[in-house]
Amino acid sequence: RRRAAASVQRLTRSVADFPQPGVQFADLTPVFADATGLREVIDALAAAAHGRADLVAGIDARGFLLGSGVALAAGTGVLAVRKQGKLPPPVLSQTYQLEYGKAGLEVPADAIALEGRRVLVVDDVLATGGTVCATVDLLTRAGAEVIGVAVVMELEGLGGRDRLTVPLTSLVAV
Ligand code: PRP
Repeated sequence: RRRAAASVQRLTRSVADFPQPGVQFADLTPVFADATGLREVIDALAAAAHGRADLVAGIDARGFLLGSGVALAAGTGVLAVRKQGKLPPPVLSQTYQLEYGKAGLEVPADAIALEGRRVLVVDDVLATGGTVCATVDLLTRAGAEVIGVAVVMELEGLGGRDRLTVPLTSLVAV
């Protein structure tokens, strides 16, 4: 975990004024493109499952880069939590508030049985927590037990951690 955090800090590219003026954007692309960085991050996120998860859910889109690797490392299958409109019906959806307007996330309603599954949710970045909270709500409504959320980077000061009702693991807090 400490090694993963050091690699994230070393390899993250910081971009000023993106996507809006005044915002410092943390681009994790170089972390994931680095063989050692990717391996360390995947292993550190998988450790958050504590051997208790039987499914890993990766959030659209950058959570997909991590979800499959974390599932392999944790010995589980993987579920893609998709942005609205990507999955064939029937779907279970959850809308959530963005700064401007609304967004939605979806999982298949009957392609896999989520009832009683113990799910670890993974994503790249936790900011306001809106995305992750909607995912937790969605999976809970589907009957799953979300055992935790694991992210590479947590943007402190945006209140994401406080909105979460399940344990959060973040490798780096900025
Ligand atoms: C980013 C990021 C998280 C989310 C965090 O995804 O990957 O999923 O925002 O923000 P929040 O905590 O305030 O909800 P984005 O919606 O940009 O989608 P992408 O992964 O498809 O780029």
